[in-house]
Amino acid sequence: MVQMAVLGYGVVGSGVVEVLSTHKESIAKRAQEEICVKYILDRREFPESPFADRFTKSFDQILQDSEVRVVVEVMGGLDPAFEYTAQCLKAGKSVVTSNKELVASKGAELLKIAREMNVNFLFEASVGGGIPIIRPLSQCLAANDVIEIAGILNGTTNFILTKMIRESMSFEDALALAQKLGYAERNPAADVEGFDACRKICILASLAYGKHVYPHQVHTEGITQITLADVEYADNWGGVIKLIGQVEKTESGRLQTIVCPMFVSRESQLSSVDDVFNGILVQGDATGDVVFYGKGAGKLPTASAVVADVIDCVKHFKARKYLFWEEGSEEYVEDYRERPILLYVRAKTQDPEKAFAKAAQVLSGASRLSRKEPEEGELAFVTTCLMPEKEIREKLSSLQELEILGTIRISDF
Ligand code: HSE
Repeated sequence: MVQMAVLGYGVVGSGVVEVLSTHKESIAKRAQEEICVKYILDRREFPESPFADRFTKSFDQILQDSEVRVVVEVMGGLDPAFEYTAQCLKAGKSVVTSNKELVASKGAELLKIAREMNVNFLFEASVGGGIPIIRPLSQCLAANDVIEIAGILNGTTNFILTKMIRESMSFEDALALAQKLGYAERNPAADVEGFDACRKICILASLAYGKHVYPHQVHTEGITQITLADVEYADNWGGVIKLIGQVEKTESGRLQTIVCPMFVSRESQLSSVDDVFNGILVQGDATGDVVFYGKGAGKLPTASAVVADVIDCVKHFKARKYLFWEEGSEEYVEDYRERPILLYVRAKTQDPEKAFAKAAQVLSGASRLSRKEPEEGELAFVTTCLMPEKEIREKLSSLQELEILGTIRISDF
């Protein structure tokens, strides 16, 4: 029998305990060992819980119990999750986490400790909830050089954008609905400002390219500035607006990475990933495009990924799973403004005809967009000549006749 502990009894923690209990027999068969939750660490009391006898408020009790060989960290945040995880690994316990903030900020450090201690540090649930992506990326696609990863990595923002696109709901109303349905966090900033997607692309980038990409290195924009006018112009262009996390290796061997809303063509597989679903496109040099799709959040999908990692730990006490990336460096990630892009622009101007002609000339080509009932003096277009974002922005600011109201990058997948 293998004894384990769960740190945190929130949505995911309670899901993990539930899945381990409801699937006890099949899990024991797959792990070839019975897995038993000996401790649940939480500050709160749960006297009515069927697991009431397992609760403890003492992390040291767990740390010092040599019977505990696997620890599930599902507390979220960095403090004390980082310290607890590092201490468990140093004590020779394998750790499984769903905590994307922890992996995105401290992954290299924790993987190093795990390697030194010959234990496992696994985090399948940190990206894409129940969608298998970490294991496929590190194992099944290991023979490929990853050319690019682009993903819809946040369910809440995808739900909001889907409501705006399909039902012409305003951003504010769609956010309120997401909160009511329990999708958005109480403080929705991590979702709508793109921070959650940023952490997830950091993890995927670090894993795909073997070197840590830290959240501060990823230029991150959320969806709070997206209007229904932008949604209509995207439709006229031939696509939809999605919040995308993207990373690719450039010829210099450095990375280009960004999180931002993008115009995604209807031809793209990601354009039909709607509601709270996530979709991740991995372009391998040997495989071509591989797409992962499913529920990126929620109690049981996430718990399912955590428990699968626990089973993997139990099956690999002797032979550690090879999962590793090295520490990153500042120069490893290029300035996002150097990347050649096409851009959608929505602006206000005195004379749209004249201003568009000038913009098309200055930007070496542009294609005008239309929508029903535009506002007086409204002009929208997409650029048609690839150029570094820095250059496009300089040229746009030289156009005195345009008051820029919004810009959105055009995706290349
Ligand atoms: N808030 C996240 C989302 C939860 O909406 O995708 C999963 O990380």
